[in-house]
Amino acid sequence: MMFEEIFQKNSQWVAEKLSVDENYFANLAAGQHPEYLYIGCSDSRVTAEDLMGLQPGEVFIHRNVANLVITTDNNLNAVVQYAVERLKVKHIIICGHYECGGVAAAMNPSDMGQLNSWLQALRDVYRLHRKELDAITDEKKRVDRLVELNVREQCINVIKIDHVQRSWYATGFPTIHGWVFDVRTGRLIDLDLDMYSIFGEVRSIYDVVRGDRE
Ligand code: CO
Repeated sequence: MMFEEIFQKNSQWVAEKLSVDENYFANLAAGQHPEYLYIGCSDSRVTAEDLMGLQPGEVFIHRNVANLVITTDNNLNAVVQYAVERLKVKHIIICGHYECGGVAAAMNPSDMGQLNSWLQALRDVYRLHRKELDAITDEKKRVDRLVELNVREQCINVIKIDHVQRSWYATGFPTIHGWVFDVRTGRLIDLDLDMYSIFGEVRSIYDVVRGDRE
């Protein structure tokens, strides 16, 4: 699309919304109460609201290269804390995707400048699951599996965050979900991670809220 057309498209979009509901933007301006925090990849093909069929106001979003949850990332932490404590989202979704350039790059080391240090977190996931991954002979399937294992590890990283643990113990929320978007088919895949039992396995290491009291 031509750059200039974007503003024409915006005017059309405004007109469409108002033709259905004349108070559409007045309602949007009144505030947001999203039930979901979505953490996904910056990849232009993985459009959060579109692929979930959600409308403006329904999902709080954070995106970065390869959907990483780095617990010292101030940007990520601010988003998660605001979503959990203020917006009181019920669900946190980590959504990876097949054909992720970041994941492929992490499996084939090369000098990528600023991305070198960012992708080390993904290489850690590879190292943690090296046995399983190296046993997969088909390269595409191996990268696909790292996409899935990365989502699982990032879900664990979410529960490492102290204010997520506090909210979890106080209210039972947020529930954490690991998904993969298959860009080849458009399908959203729920990895069906049982985060209660997964966290249970590593609680004695990462539980900073109750860990010292039990
Ligand atoms: Co990606």
